[in-house]
Amino acid sequence: MVSWAITGATRGIGLGFVKNLSMDPNNQVFALIRSLGTAGPLEELAAQRKNIYIIVTDISNPTKLDEAAAKVSKVTAGSLDVLILNAGSAGPDTAVLPPSTFHGKKEALDLEIGENIKNNLLSNIYTMNSFLHLIRSGAEKKMIFISSQSGNLEFTRITGFSTLLGYSVSKAGMNMAVTKFATELAPEGIKTLALSPGWVNTDAAKAVTGDPEIRKVMLDMFHKVDPKVDGPAPIEEAVANMLRVIRNLTEADSGKFLTHHGDEEQWF
Ligand SMILES: NC(=O)c1ccc[n+]([C@@H]2O[C@H](COP(=O)([O-])OP(=O)(O)OC[C@H]3O[C@@H](n4cnc5c(N)ncnc54)[C@H](OP(=O)(O)O)[C@@H]3O)[C@@H](O)[C@H]2O)c1
Repeated sequence: MVSWAITGATRGIGLGFVKNLSMDPNNQVFALIRSLGTAGPLEELAAQRKNIYIIVTDISNPTKLDEAAAKVSKVTAGSLDVLILNAGSAGPDTAVLPPSTFHGKKEALDLEIGENIKNNLLSNIYTMNSFLHLIRSGAEKKMIFISSQSGNLEFTRITGFSTLLGYSVSKAGMNMAVTKFATELAPEGIKTLALSPGWVNTDAAKAVTGDPEIRKVMLDMFHKVDPKVDGPAPIEEAVANMLRVIRNLTEADSGKFLTHHGDEEQWF
């Protein structure tokens, strides 16, 4: 048995991981979600596949996370092989603004940065710490953070992607936290990775590029790093690519920020 826990498992990439992994009865899949409100498709799948365990928790609350880890521990007898930190969002409406437009808007800037740091960085550190004792006893010993190309300096510099300030800062900050965990935990054989999923056809992607004009602006920027990219990839394809990278993760690559192709260049 290989045990996997995935945050943000109701929709999009998170649900894609659950669908893929639960096909194999040798996997135990823990779907960590914040609410059953959006979990209809996940609940339907869990009704058919007995290796899916749905756990409602709050990743911004370490006490609730400890309780969630205790529930996983009951099923696995005290271990977890792979933790996937997938839950994430781009935060307030001000995400469309470039940094200099926040001059004179202190409250808006505090919210733009603060909300994203809370949701995409602090919550992930809480989650890693609450599940670490289970990972220590696991066979795989892997903690994977689903990052974003917009948290990469070179991608941002070349594309000219000046918006999504708080989101990008929070993803870049969490990439560093992932490296810190890697350096601390290497002596125990625990491996961490920040992993970009590519551009994936989820609700989050549609919210940004659903408008044809915005989609064209995005494509013009993305073509500066990859002239061939023509739109978001299907969830199934992105998940299969990421699982290949996760399964191939060794101590030599622990703490890196890799693309879904397993390198540091092919963002699409
Ligand atoms: N799609 C892309 O092209 C793309 C590109 C780069 C990076 N990513 C990253 O990939 C990850 C998954 O994104 P997605 O495209 O699958 O997004 P999505 O379709 O919007 O799904 C997001 C999932 O995360 C959950 N979630 C969001 N904020 C949360 C919070 N504060 N606490 C708990 N759960 C939360 C949502 O739960 P609810 O159902 O309860 O809302 C949902 O299950 C994110 O970290 C995102 O930054 C995606």
